[in-house]
Amino acid sequence: MGNRMRIAVNTGGGDAPGLNAVIYAVTMAAAQRGWEVHGIREGYAGLFDTSKIVPLTPERVAGIMDRGGTILGTTNKGDPFNRPHERNDGTIEFRDESDKVVENFKRLGFDCLIALGGDGSLGLAHRLSQKGLNFIGVPKTIDNDLAKTQQTFGFDTAVTTATECIDKLHSTAEAHRRIMVVEVMGRYAGWIALHSGLSGDADVILIPEIPFSIDKVCDRLMENEVRGKQHGIVVVAEGAKEAGGGLITKENVDVGRQEVMLGGVADYVAKAIHKKTGKETRSLVLGHLQRGGSPTTWDRLISLRFGAAAVRFIAEGKRNVMVAWQPPEMKAIPVTEVIGQTKLVSPDSDTIHTCRDLGISLGD
Ligand code: F6P
Repeated sequence: MGNRMRIAVNTGGGDAPGLNAVIYAVTMAAAQRGWEVHGIREGYAGLFDTSKIVPLTPERVAGIMDRGGTILGTTNKGDPFNRPHERNDGTIEFRDESDKVVENFKRLGFDCLIALGGDGSLGLAHRLSQKGLNFIGVPKTIDNDLAKTQQTFGFDTAVTTATECIDKLHSTAEAHRRIMVVEVMGRYAGWIALHSGLSGDADVILIPEIPFSIDKVCDRLMENEVRGKQHGIVVVAEGAKEAGGGLITKENVDVGRQEVMLGGVADYVAKAIHKKTGKETRSLVLGHLQRGGSPTTWDRLISLRFGAAAVRFIAEGKRNVMVAWQPPEMKAIPVTEVIGQTKLVSPDSDTIHTCRDLGISLGD
């Protein structure tokens, strides 16, 4: 391995606040070592169309650290093992073009890819590594559901945004003596709901890890009435399920998207609460607001640390690992120990106990 490396960086899956801070740190840490860095736009798309590869220099990344989104663009339909192609009759066929990605990566002379992604993107990087593409993964997702790292970047910003929104709901809920049911993101994990619901003083928090009963939810809300409080806040994770029920999903409208689209549980819960209690109930979905905006200081800091550690690990000769924050250190964890291992909220965790101690119902 020569001293002067040529590395690439890409961003895959849903965006998360902090992506640009990681790109900034990677670029600066590589430049310090005299290495070359190139950004691959839109996941792996840049490896099919080289006009989508952009040189990253300290000048190019100046001022991006605090910006949301990603200067490289991203996609959750960028699986090179299943690339959608439209046939003449308008139907779609999927082709495995992963060999082309690896071939182009090598032809362009890259030594290593820094892949910023969640479970799906890291899984793709792992499969490409089995064909010869070296990478270092950086754990990105607002959902905070990646194993082996205490936290992913983007999560703190999403929780902060959700908490601010919940804070704003209290006054309108109180004014109208209503129940407000707020749906937050998180896929199959309840981290965003739990942290924002607790910080935002919710009465009820529903998470995928604890199946809920509408009766229990209503019991808790009616306790408010006994105490003279006529309004209430329910925070529900998009992946929360009623005991004995299933996930609530939306129609998948994106060609090439593999994952189901979650959504609608707040509306379901709100209707059920109204039916049972007769109370005026409204639902709202915070949606992509949680992914937008500048990263919080915490997310910015951890993103910079993730990016710098990724470059350090490359310099140390590490490959096909994920940078994991295991306080106080950044560790290199084989990606095989991470992918497919959703990190869920433990029903026996301190945060859950804190909710119960404060009288917050988890719907069970
Ligand atoms: O994984 C991040 C996430 O924001 C999930 O919380 C959510 O279910 C999903 O992405 C939404 O994806 P999209 O932006 O494609 O609708």
